[in-house]
Amino acid sequence: MAPDIHVVILAAGKGTRMKSARPKVLHRVAGIPMIEHVLDRAAALAPKTTTIVVGYRAELLQTALADRPGLRFVVQEPQLGTAHALLMTEPLLRTATGHLILLSGDVPLLSIETLDQLVARHAARQAAATVVTAVVENPQGYGRVVRDGEQIAGIVEEKDAGSEDREIREINSGIYAFALDDLFDVVRRIAAANAQQEYYLPDLIAIHRRQGRVVETVTVANPNEILGINNRIELAEVSRIVRQMKNAELMAAGVTLEDPATTYVDRDVEIGADTIVHPNVSLEGRTRIGVDCEIHSGVRIIDTRLGDRVTVLNHCVIRGASIESDASVGPFAHLRKDASVGARAKVGNFVEMKSTILGPGSKAMHLSYLGDAVVGANVNIGAGTITCNYDGTTKQTTTIEDGAFIGSDSQLIAPVTVARDAYVGTGTTIRENVPAGALAVSAGKQRNIEGWVEKKGRSKKGVGSRE
Ligand code: UD1
Ligand code: CA
Repeated sequence: MAPDIHVVILAAGKGTRMKSARPKVLHRVAGIPMIEHVLDRAAALAPKTTTIVVGYRAELLQTALADRPGLRFVVQEPQLGTAHALLMTEPLLRTATGHLILLSGDVPLLSIETLDQLVARHAARQAAATVVTAVVENPQGYGRVVRDGEQIAGIVEEKDAGSEDREIREINSGIYAFALDDLFDVVRRIAAANAQQEYYLPDLIAIHRRQGRVVETVTVANPNEILGINNRIELAEVSRIVRQMKNAELMAAGVTLEDPATTYVDRDVEIGADTIVHPNVSLEGRTRIGVDCEIHSGVRIIDTRLGDRVTVLNHCVIRGASIESDASVGPFAHLRKDASVGARAKVGNFVEMKSTILGPGSKAMHLSYLGDAVVGANVNIGAGTITCNYDGTTKQTTTIEDGAFIGSDSQLIAPVTVARDAYVGTGTTIRENVPAGALAVSAGKQRNIEGWVEKKGRSKKGVGSRE
């Protein structure tokens, strides 16, 4: 039987260099908190337990992860270094056996392949410890891997490194596999005799080696995998890499991104083949887009489902909505929570929709607010139509049945129904239900007062004059 795997994630640090009131690992990398990226990788190992060491603003972290089942939290207070952090998990893992995989909450790009390799090598060599390392161009800020021939001899932190060690380009990723046997006894022997007066977990390597125990390394081929995030510049850099990977995946699957550098697609977004995405578009959260759609510049879509062949014209904001196949939205439309645009329907400029169903083939092309409305099929909503859904206390429903025609500049005071094929004249205020096939008008008769302009003596200067 394969040995048990227990995962520990270190996330107690304040992240001083982030200059933030929030824990570092809650900062978002490509739309998702850093720690979530790490947890997804941990889950791929199917561990027996997963423990997160929290400290700085621990309550924020625990709240943010409340809907992740099976996580165990231990609090490290004060934070005296990475070895001290691991020691905090001893009460939970004292009787555990097998391998402990230690991940860092601020290293979110590690591949699952590398993790598998780490476990495989660690198990095959029956190592006391196995370290993931990388050879990088610029090792600044990382612990350096000191070798004794082929063997790893120890790890020296940048702040404690002499000029010779600083030249070393092989770095410690902060990700390890440990044999659980006597792990905590060895960790307890680590001293804080260093520049930062902290208990350094990497010191474990030299202790093991001095005792002649097996310490292995796994060196990643792509050093991007082990990028750590310590400041906002690194946060942006790692986000860029995640986005680049996502964009490459989409393009490989048949999606056209006109300018990948300005296309921001969150990890869980799905897009069908032959969809075209123009520059400066953000697709966020759980958005799903079908095939053959076209998303124009300046559009932001969050948690929304689009069918096939949907066109979204420039500068729309769409959140929590759904748009059926062959519909068209925008430019400058605002679709909010539970806005639902039917097949072949058209929503034009400066139209806002919330909790509204616009039926198949219906149109609302100009300057309208549709809130809490149920609009049937093939309805025409004229320019400037407003559903007055809020009476100051409650939200009420406007129902507009199939084939109805709402003339421009009308107000529908909910609750109210305009029945099938009814016609609402331009500029009408609808307060009562309109029966099927009826015409509703409320505006008074027009009066023209002859010669009024001349009588007022206003014709010379012109009505629009500012004097
Ligand atoms: C650490 C390693 C370094 C490695 C680098 C890789 C140490 C001493 N150094 O340095 O060799 O190259 O990661 O990214 O381990 N943490 C706690 N409690 C603490 C201190 C830190 O939980 O008391 C957590 C942090 O929240 C973070 C992780 O441990 O998630 C790493 O800590 P950080 O201070 O970022 O270590 P580095 O200086 O990057
Ligand atoms: Ca770090």
